[in-house]
Amino acid sequence: MNRPTNPHTLTQANAPVGTHAGYMPGFGNDFETEALPDALPQGMNSPQKCNYGLYGEQLSGTAFTANPPERTWCYRIRPSVKHSHRYEKINLPHWKSAPCIDPDVISLGQYRWDPVPHSDSGQNWLTGMRTMTTAGDVNTQVGMASHIYLVTESMVDDYFFSADSELLVVPQEGRLRFATELGIIDLAPKEIAIIPRGLLYRVEVLEGPARGFVCENYGQKFELPGRGPIGANCMANPRDFKAPVAAFEDREVPSTVTIKWCGQFHTTKIGHSPLDVVAWHGNYAPYKYDLRTYCPVGAILFDHPDPSIFTVLTAPSGQPGTANIDFVLFRERWMVAENTFRPPWYHKNIMSELMGNIYGQYDAKPQGFVPGGMSLHNMMIPHGPDNEAFEKASNANLGPDKLDQTMSFMFETRFPQHLTTFAANEAPLQDDYIDCWTSLEKKFDGTPGKK
Ligand SMILES: [Fe+2]
Repeated sequence: MNRPTNPHTLTQANAPVGTHAGYMPGFGNDFETEALPDALPQGMNSPQKCNYGLYGEQLSGTAFTANPPERTWCYRIRPSVKHSHRYEKINLPHWKSAPCIDPDVISLGQYRWDPVPHSDSGQNWLTGMRTMTTAGDVNTQVGMASHIYLVTESMVDDYFFSADSELLVVPQEGRLRFATELGIIDLAPKEIAIIPRGLLYRVEVLEGPARGFVCENYGQKFELPGRGPIGANCMANPRDFKAPVAAFEDREVPSTVTIKWCGQFHTTKIGHSPLDVVAWHGNYAPYKYDLRTYCPVGAILFDHPDPSIFTVLTAPSGQPGTANIDFVLFRERWMVAENTFRPPWYHKNIMSELMGNIYGQYDAKPQGFVPGGMSLHNMMIPHGPDNEAFEKASNANLGPDKLDQTMSFMFETRFPQHLTTFAANEAPLQDDYIDCWTSLEKKFDGTPGKK
């Protein structure tokens, strides 16, 4: 068992959720943390009586028999059965789940959107979620959805968990606090958070308005990609993923818990805060990760590898090498390849590619793909640099060149992505995006040696 190295880990006595965040390093570690001294049983999981009168409870994120199993033991003021009562169905009309196919929407094509603007009315984490695409099937736990969140208001005595999915959160503006059962994660642009399936939390606005991207993963959890011949270092290093230390609140106020389950939303009323885990140990936990710690590996002589070289996290499918979702990062880096067309090449791809811009300018699309904006290049639909990028890259003096002030990402899935009605009709779709390739010229005239 890895004991956390963070010196603040075990000193959060009486630290209520909402006061401060502290973290333990290491993706997939078996952590242990307690907010009160000796709240965590040692040497066993389920003593006859837990200290402080706490209840012991296991949260299983994988099947018991998965290899390795992922689970966390929680020691809490009330067991989760007290955080759940009769359910009432509610409607969150903008948060969609696959399959969600509008017969009047054509998803076949190349699409790009300007940033979705904030609405005039206040929105929280649940009401402010706008689904852009869906893929696969939430009921069979395959595929994903992509969302934009537009959040201006904190959740107050209001909690949420998704039984359907793990959420990968990519902020673009504003700062959020995820007050979870297992501790606090504060999140800002250039960081990401991973909120596991079944983990209960509320989202507070630390600095608003807040906008960002969410990949809702219906399938197997995100994990670090195998590095193969790259070896033990670079790309995303495990130590840079941070899990929160235990923090709890003992608050008896009327509260609402909302649950996403098989694509539908339900609420249940309880009389207290459910964020009451005083101590926990295990390997099923939320994380944050600073994208600036991602160490890119790339070309150092000629050509460049497939964009999979920039994979931060991968959510496997049942087919080796073919991910349910890859999360890929295009960040600042040096370009040094000789006699090489350096931007992404023209291509068609069996995987479907949804991109978002966190900040700066993307090298294949100098114009139009702006921070907060998104693009979709769907299954087997051709795409590549626009004419400006092609001409510039084809005629550049190829010295060492720093791609600076740039951070974009891709949610790439093995499944075709379907646009929601919102994405097709309400979000700021750039109708002229496809024209970015119109000015590409035919250069061939049969002359030998011509370049
Ligand atoms: Fe692509």
